[in-house]
Amino acid sequence: MTAASVATAAYIVAALLFILSLAGLSRHDTARRGVVYGMIGMALALAATIWLTVTASWGGPQAALGLTLLVVAMLVGAAIGLWRARRVEMTGMPQLIALLHSFVGLAAVLVGWNGALYDTGLEGALADIHHAEVFIGVFIGGVTFTGSIVAFLKLSARMSSKPLMLPGKNALNLGAVIVFLALTVWYVITPDLWLLIVVTALALALGWHLVASIGGGDMPVVVSMLNSYSGWAAAAAGFLLNNDLLIVTGALVGSSGAYLSYIMCRAMNRSFISVIAGGFGIEAPRKDDEETGEHREVDAETAAEMLAAADSVVITPGYGMAVAQAQYPVAELAARLRERGVNVRFGIHPVAGRLPGHMNVLLAEAKVPYDIVLEMDEINDDMPDTSVVLVIGANDTVNPAAAEDPGSPIAGMPVLKVWEAENVIVFKRSMASGYAGVQNPLFFRDNAQMLFGDAKERVEDILKAL
Ligand code: TAP
Repeated sequence: MTAASVATAAYIVAALLFILSLAGLSRHDTARRGVVYGMIGMALALAATIWLTVTASWGGPQAALGLTLLVVAMLVGAAIGLWRARRVEMTGMPQLIALLHSFVGLAAVLVGWNGALYDTGLEGALADIHHAEVFIGVFIGGVTFTGSIVAFLKLSARMSSKPLMLPGKNALNLGAVIVFLALTVWYVITPDLWLLIVVTALALALGWHLVASIGGGDMPVVVSMLNSYSGWAAAAAGFLLNNDLLIVTGALVGSSGAYLSYIMCRAMNRSFISVIAGGFGIEAPRKDDEETGEHREVDAETAAEMLAAADSVVITPGYGMAVAQAQYPVAELAARLRERGVNVRFGIHPVAGRLPGHMNVLLAEAKVPYDIVLEMDEINDDMPDTSVVLVIGANDTVNPAAAEDPGSPIAGMPVLKVWEAENVIVFKRSMASGYAGVQNPLFFRDNAQMLFGDAKERVEDILKAL
């Protein structure tokens, strides 16, 4: 058996483990097993790649250079990866993921350029296919690279989350895709380097524009869409490097990312095509950042009294609960109220927080029983029969404007209808808007009261008062 066939066998097993990993990750109770499958698959893939390089380096000095480069790259990558993974906060995960996607995009661009500069000795139809692979790989990689950088900047609040509204933005995006298709044909016929330079610049500009055009509220879909693009970029690199595992893994990431984007679009009542086309057909929202009335405040003692007298309480957590790390006192509050016979449940919006399942992970960490954690659709009909809703650091996901104001930038996005409850207590530090940058009329409703301050401290105050 040759070294290459050993590696191919290992790659097939790794690919199967990745598929099992995805299947495991789709359910709470099998998620841990899914992660283990993924880790074993990745270890196997790495070992096989090192093995391939080691066996190749028996051949001479050039292969030894390959091995040295591989070891150095792995050491540097592992050191940076370990350092970042230890330091990153849960709330910083989305921007870290966006940054990691940008690396995949950049890698695809570099692999593509390498494929163009390196003489493959191919001729005829095979050479044409190679040129098309180079061109398409560079294009997908470039779009993923700058798109992910803009997503990183928006998610980490280094860039405004408001959509960029260039005149004729849809025509610009569509035009860029048409130019790319035409250039691909041209490059296959005459593979001149200047065409590759043009498509690289075009892809970088298009990636930037696509993501910059999308508003804050739609960012969750953008992140999963870039995840999908990074998968296709990896698959394109796999074709160029003749690496089956990279093709399979890229296709898995690409298609699962696309499916996740589709599910999220459905959950948020957004058109999938519109979001992947950089907000195609979405008009500039009208400006209405001004306040919409007087708000009322409540203190922790009064809130505790309201909770003690309540029959049923719904807790709707959001990004602020994650920032404050308030999940532990919140879990204790839920347990204490349940001991007193209050019916306590959690209502989770599909895009609450900053990554899919963010709130579920935090509540599981604080040992909140799964059976009282309900999805938005499962709890919305019960809101009118709820005595008190505690909105813990959530904002966009409980904004009535989404349901009632067709002119709002988040119009049509399904939200938790907390305003239908008898009383709503909103935990946040100020009257500031949420991620989408939209004013929230909930704060000015007659049945709503603000409990200002850090969510963790305020919940602890309520626990003391109880
Ligand atoms: P947001 O609308 O982001 O609002 C969070 C609120 O928490 C803010 O208004 C903030 O108000 C408050 N807050 C921050 N720190 C706090 C603290 N220490 N104590 C108390 N309150 C605090 O949250 P949401 O309702 O969860 O909505 C999520 C938003 O993020 C949506 O627009 C969604 O589209 C977007 N998004 C989601 C994802 C995914 S996949 N989940 C990914 C990217 C973007 P103050 O500053 O006044 O305290």
